[in-house]
Amino acid sequence: KHTCAIFDLDGVLVDTAKYHYLAWKELADRLGFSFTLQDNERLKGVSRMASLDILLEVGQMTEHFTQAEKESLAEEKNNRYVEFISKLDESELLEGSLALLETLKAKGVKIALGSASKNAKMILENVGITAFFDVIVDGNAVSKAKPDPEVFTLGADQLNVPYEQCVVFEDSQAGLEAAKAVGMLALGVGQEQDLPQADVVFPTLKSFPVGVYF
Ligand code: G6P
Ligand code: MG
Repeated sequence: KHTCAIFDLDGVLVDTAKYHYLAWKELADRLGFSFTLQDNERLKGVSRMASLDILLEVGQMTEHFTQAEKESLAEEKNNRYVEFISKLDESELLEGSLALLETLKAKGVKIALGSASKNAKMILENVGITAFFDVIVDGNAVSKAKPDPEVFTLGADQLNVPYEQCVVFEDSQAGLEAAKAVGMLALGVGQEQDLPQADVVFPTLKSFPVGVYF
């Protein structure tokens, strides 16, 4: 059995993916190209600057901007995103996430966050789940983005848990790849066809059978 649960944030615990999309889409609209929900799938789990590169590629504008201009575009997107998430509350927790955190806590399972987002702490605070986490690893703590496993190994190392005792809850392909690379159980949350890298997939956290894994 496993002794540690590592959670991705956006799209696993909290329904923030839609706000990332809205903020990116506003930027694309302003730059004069369309950015669809399907294009947005490619941004899941991907860092802010890497997401901008993908967005500009979709708009065929990769060559149009200097590094400094790209940083200001990313900042523009983030300012808009922060406006959205500053109004978040517990109603934006995804189905089953609060109950699962409570059950794991009661069982004495160690709980870590492994998110690429630099806004993770604000989100945890606004939806009221900060206290569940024994360690928080976010986009400010890592130097290498998913699919590099650093965002998960940093947490496990701080908790002194062997990697094979960790279950990683993820909605992105990059995150599942990262978990598998270090022998953690890669648990996909979402649709099976979107997450071929997963060891096992559940449509939501609500259907996750805790006793089978912990
Ligand atoms: C998560 C999301 C991505 C987002 C990344 C960075 O991985 O799935 O869509 O780009 O975090 O988030 P940030 O809040 O730092 O821009
Ligand atoms: Mg995610």
